[in-house]
Amino acid sequence: MVKIRKAMMEDVKKLHSIITQSTKDAMVLPRPLNSIYSHLRDFFVAESDEGEILGCCALAISWHCLAEVRSLVVVPEARGSNLGAKMVEACVQEARELGVCDIFVLTNIEKFFAKLGFEETDKNVLPQKIWADCINCPLFPDCDEIPMTMNLK
Ligand SMILES: CC(C)(COP(=O)(O)OP(=O)(O)OC[C@H]1O[C@@H](n2cnc3c(N)ncnc32)[C@H](O)[C@@H]1OP(=O)(O)O)[C@@H](O)C(=O)NCCC(=O)NCCS
Repeated sequence: MVKIRKAMMEDVKKLHSIITQSTKDAMVLPRPLNSIYSHLRDFFVAESDEGEILGCCALAISWHCLAEVRSLVVVPEARGSNLGAKMVEACVQEARELGVCDIFVLTNIEKFFAKLGFEETDKNVLPQKIWADCINCPLFPDCDEIPMTMNLK
């Protein structure tokens, strides 16, 4: 039985490894070790019975009432077992507890997020601040990610 739990210090190197691996074949932004350490409290992980980290997902607070789902990865061997959905749901639950009004994601897998209740939105409804990270993205400015949001109120 896989459990979804908050990330711990001992998970950082594995998180870095699976995120880095995923940047090669999926639309996942690289996260330097420094960024994972400083945002460790944002992360959920999926952990197998054997203690292996099978995936991660982060909830990052962006602005008043607004948070982002980031760094969603399930290792290829564990895909298709609902772990991605469960980690996003854990982020949504945490966002509700924090009083967040809207969650957003920038993604190219709209169907996955639509199943979880996210809806495509106009880029302009999101505050300018959230685009700051784009400058560090290898795909900037020709990115085809779609903004999607879920209203929690
Ligand atoms: C996207 C990802 C996290 C999904 O994880 P997963 O654990 O395999 O997905 P789940 O098993 O939870 O899938 C939940 C549902 O979404 C669907 N789904 C999964 N991946 C999908 C994809 N890439 N596109 C569309 N739908 C997808 C599944 O079919 C499933 O639907 P169902 O409930 O009707 O059966 C995983 O494929 C991954 O790590 N991909 C590479 C990194 C990536 O693209 N991250 C997202 C960046 S925004």
